[in-house]
Amino acid sequence: MCGIVGILGKKPVALQVLDALKRLEYRGYDSAGVATLEDGHLARRRAEGKLGNLELKLSEAPLSGAIGIGHTRWATHGRPNETNAHPHATDKLAVVHNGIIENFAELKAELQAEGIVFETQTDTEVVAQLVTAKLRDGKSPMEAVATTLPRLRGAFALAFLFEGVSDMLIGARHGPPLAVGWGDGEMYLGSDALALAPFTDEVTYLEDGDWVVLTRTDAVIRDMDGHPVDRVRQRVPTNSFLASKGNHRHFMVKEIYEQPEVVARTIAHYVDFAAGLACPPPLPFAWKDLRRVSITACGTASLAGHVARYWFERLARLPVELDVASEFRYREAPLDPGELAMFISQSGETADTLASLRYAKSQGQRILSVVNVPTSTMARESEAVAPTLAGVEVGVASTKAFTCQLATLLSLAIAAGRERGTLSEAEERRLVAALNGIPELMTEALHLEGEIELLARDLARARDVLYLGRGTAYPIALEGALKLKELSYIHAEGYAAGELKHGPIALIDETMPVIVIAPYDSVFEKTVSNMQEVAARGGRILLVTDARGAREAAMDTMGTIVMPDCDPVVAPILYAVAIQLIAYHTAVFMGKDVDQPRNLAKSVTVE
Ligand code: F6R
Repeated sequence: MCGIVGILGKKPVALQVLDALKRLEYRGYDSAGVATLEDGHLARRRAEGKLGNLELKLSEAPLSGAIGIGHTRWATHGRPNETNAHPHATDKLAVVHNGIIENFAELKAELQAEGIVFETQTDTEVVAQLVTAKLRDGKSPMEAVATTLPRLRGAFALAFLFEGVSDMLIGARHGPPLAVGWGDGEMYLGSDALALAPFTDEVTYLEDGDWVVLTRTDAVIRDMDGHPVDRVRQRVPTNSFLASKGNHRHFMVKEIYEQPEVVARTIAHYVDFAAGLACPPPLPFAWKDLRRVSITACGTASLAGHVARYWFERLARLPVELDVASEFRYREAPLDPGELAMFISQSGETADTLASLRYAKSQGQRILSVVNVPTSTMARESEAVAPTLAGVEVGVASTKAFTCQLATLLSLAIAAGRERGTLSEAEERRLVAALNGIPELMTEALHLEGEIELLARDLARARDVLYLGRGTAYPIALEGALKLKELSYIHAEGYAAGELKHGPIALIDETMPVIVIAPYDSVFEKTVSNMQEVAARGGRILLVTDARGAREAAMDTMGTIVMPDCDPVVAPILYAVAIQLIAYHTAVFMGKDVDQPRNLAKSVTVE
């Protein structure tokens, strides 16, 4: 998603803005730009594609202003070309924008009727033109922004720079996050604290509806009604800032390799090692008082929820209703007051998940969020937060956040089972021991990388790939397919193995690899029957199983990945490593940009 930066500095800021934009690259983007004031006059450099193109433009035609704004654009309205790249400007101002102005067509028509000619296809340009019109009417920059904001519908974060005004930037937040950074005689704006990390670790997160006037020494924040408001100034721990790739080729593979460590750290937060029992931090509700739980999330996070449904239902006998947030938010689901609504999100900013959370809150639900970014909007708006301790995830495709979500959710399900009396202490100890064993098994699984890399070369030739699984391996099959398609652009589908014969079996022929996720568990034999059905039709099977599964299946496959033995309950956490490596190596072999796959964004702050 788009990234915003603003700097009120003491010396030329264009390269600092560029540096901050590089730290927002992980969010996904397709063009970028910077605007500064050169002797009081607005000047812009913009470029299609990667930041290297913008950097080149800045080296050919440097900017020297000590105040500036910058942007990485993830196209929503209009193609990702230079014309549509931000900042958008008039003779009065330049503006950058993250989000969508939903009523832009109506506003544009109104402005066009007044004779305004638009240069771009973006929704953002209407903001530039609306504020400009007010400036022409003699309003001050503050008045012009204050009277424009109420006219905008949708989700947006904005930063404005004004012609001739060298000591003021204005920022506004209505949806996507925006943080103010406090420096020494310098002030900053950024989509997240990560962007501002080289300059300051002291930030204030704007609340929804806030707008801020920044000078070099102060930030005055107002709410939607224009009343000055106090917002907390906080230090963001430096260890939550962007790390380098280290010795790894990509952030994604670095993050895959970090999993044993971050999953262990997450488990340690929820488990008492000495007692061998689950001990999540206290929650403001009792599991035994609940009759049902709803779990809502998007993408990979929703697949963590899908696995958790099996855990909560089986271990805690707690019915779970699961939905993707983009559907849940408009479904008008009847929710009995006092029940639990859980939300899962790496970023804590995903627009649909956040809107679902707000809906559930309005329906009197208890709100528990499983989030990775502790300062995120979801974390701040939830009644309780179960943190995942994955650290900053830079790769657009979620890996370590997913396995930390799983570890967190299983710990919670075990605690719920104990409290509800559906798990004996002996079962709890067995499950906790299995969970504690996971980081070491993940390290072992990572040793399979060479083997997986070879198999991936074969997969890279496929046009379509089918993933099958049963029980908790089913959502892992879905996640495998999601990872493969987002990274390699190979069409992939995940199916419940038992659903195969209800349709997808028609696809199977000798060109179609079928990846079967099947730890040796209570449904293994059923999955083997489905593999037989695939083999009988010439399908090529890649089996991901354990030693016993490999032995019992006794089938000809294009490859068998033999995972370390583990308790079937924790298998989804371990098997996630295999499907991540399969997708990663297939995409790398095909020469794809695995850290920033085309069209994808890391933090999806628009609908
Ligand atoms: C896929 C992926 C996405 C995210 C989804 C939700 O690899 O990363 O599907 O899981 O966009 O994002 P968060 O977890 O930030 O709410």
